[in-house]
Amino acid sequence: MSERSSASGIGDGGGDVLIVDDFPDALALYEAVLTEDGHRVRTAQNGVEALRHVDEREPELVLLDVSMPGLGGVEVLRRLRSRRDGGPSVIMLTAARREPHAIEAGLKEGADAYLTKPIDSRELLARVRAALETFRLKRMLEAQRRDHIAMLVHDLRHPLSSLGLIAEVLDAEDLTPAERRHVVGQIRSMCAEMARLVDDVLVASRLEAGVFSVEVRPIRVGAVIEPILAVFTPVAARRRVALDFDGSLDLEVRADAQKLRQALDNLVANALKFTPRGGRVRLRVWRAGADVAFEIADTGPGIAPEEESTIFDRYRQGARGRAAGGAGLGLAIARGIAEAHHGSVAVSTGDLGGAAFRLTVPS
Ligand SMILES: Nc1ncnc2c1ncn2[C@@H]1O[C@H](COP(=O)(O)OP(=O)(O)OP(=O)(O)O)[C@@H](O)[C@H]1O
Ligand SMILES: [Mg+2]
Repeated sequence: MSERSSASGIGDGGGDVLIVDDFPDALALYEAVLTEDGHRVRTAQNGVEALRHVDEREPELVLLDVSMPGLGGVEVLRRLRSRRDGGPSVIMLTAARREPHAIEAGLKEGADAYLTKPIDSRELLARVRAALETFRLKRMLEAQRRDHIAMLVHDLRHPLSSLGLIAEVLDAEDLTPAERRHVVGQIRSMCAEMARLVDDVLVASRLEAGVFSVEVRPIRVGAVIEPILAVFTPVAARRRVALDFDGSLDLEVRADAQKLRQALDNLVANALKFTPRGGRVRLRVWRAGADVAFEIADTGPGIAPEEESTIFDRYRQGARGRAAGGAGLGLAIARGIAEAHHGSVAVSTGDLGGAAFRLTVPS
């Protein structure tokens, strides 16, 4: 099942809902409306009964009247939210318009939303569905994020243990100069790959926190491209893929050299990762009006049209990407870095037959 179809299926299942209201007519009405919409509904006429229901089985959503005699809604809310697991996923208050203080207190205590009485049944349906969908989407994204972090740690672990083995070889064996150069080359490319993964996680968390910035100054394009070619040429050779460059290294561009390099590193790493043996990866640079354009084209499988809009999202991978490992961060980072330069990145089918990623920044 693709991630897209599972995402659209989120709203299809009814939720496990508990309705709490001391007014029996309201209770009966909400129950009828929500049951009709496919939710599994339980009801409680007071706070004590509500807590008992939650103890029995935790509902996904509680519709909670703020003003009830005895244990009031806000107190019930406080007790639910102070549970070790934080209580039910979604707590929605219901209150009369003249009870703004109760609503305010409830929101402070961790209510997710509120509805004002009298409640229109269509609004009730729409709000309950929307709240459940939002919650389930968040939970799904969180699970994906955890999977990807586990994957990332795994990806770091692998070169790290290889490095340990290589160190032993270096230590124990009498190597010829050629062998030694080969081993050193391996160490370099493993370190570069690990550094890319670690840098990606750092940039991703800065982008997420909204504190990512670039220091732009005029630089020679070669300052970015030369180290990329130096690192990836041996990687390409090992994979039997031709890596070539086309364009002028002396073009000037206004950029943060280190960040721009990180963006292009990811695009080149992807092209090499997804291009089969015997293929070709071409890095081109040229002046495009007021911009400088960088393009990485390959002879690999390309991007399926239905994946084009999602692969730039964080933690999103295509079917091939999942099979190849990685965290699904590379393209999100390339996009974040391009945008921080007031530029952009886009994908199309290139003239080499595979994917072509084009990153442009103002010159
Ligand atoms: N050159 C390419 N050819 C084919 N598919 C690609 C190419 N570049 C990216 N993709 C697809 O886009 C997805 C997202 O790429 P991205 O770089 O964000 O993540 P990743 O490479 O899977 O992991 P990471 O970069 O974090 O190691 C990939 O999983 C793959 O499905
Ligand atoms: Mg990648």
